[in-house]
Amino acid sequence: MPIREKEDTMKWDRSFEIGIEAIDNQHKKIFEHLLAIENSVAKKDPWHILHFFLTQLTEYMKFHLAVEEALLEIVRYPDREAHCASHARIIEQMATLEDQLKNKPSGKNLVGFFEDWFVRHVLASDRDYAAYVAKEFPALSGAASA
Ligand SMILES: [Fe+2]
Ligand SMILES: [Fe+2]
Repeated sequence: MPIREKEDTMKWDRSFEIGIEAIDNQHKKIFEHLLAIENSVAKKDPWHILHFFLTQLTEYMKFHLAVEEALLEIVRYPDREAHCASHARIIEQMATLEDQLKNKPSGKNLVGFFEDWFVRHVLASDRDYAAYVAKEFPALSGAASA
């Protein structure tokens, strides 16, 4: 599922949902932070504005990843080590991006990187643990409450 059609801006789509309401709400919030960065880059905002949005995204992302890691621990998700390792990598990559932004203020690489990350991690890898939760803990999943 592409998050953008040709020249359109990115749009949240219900197909991004993984069926766990609290997590979906957080993913939506991350998506909004990504939009803010994309708009900021498109408007050629000065460096400090872009940096502000990136810092906000990083803070929110750390919160979200911590929530997810706690959830995976509680439900004893068998693949949680690998999943948590990919979270650690994204935080590292975000720190690198922040450094790059200081040297090369256009921020163009930010947009592509996050879109790619969102598709790969949120829409693919988070979906794997959501399938496990739906099967083992249906009460936590949207399938039971819908
Ligand atoms: Fe996530
Ligand atoms: Fe995740």
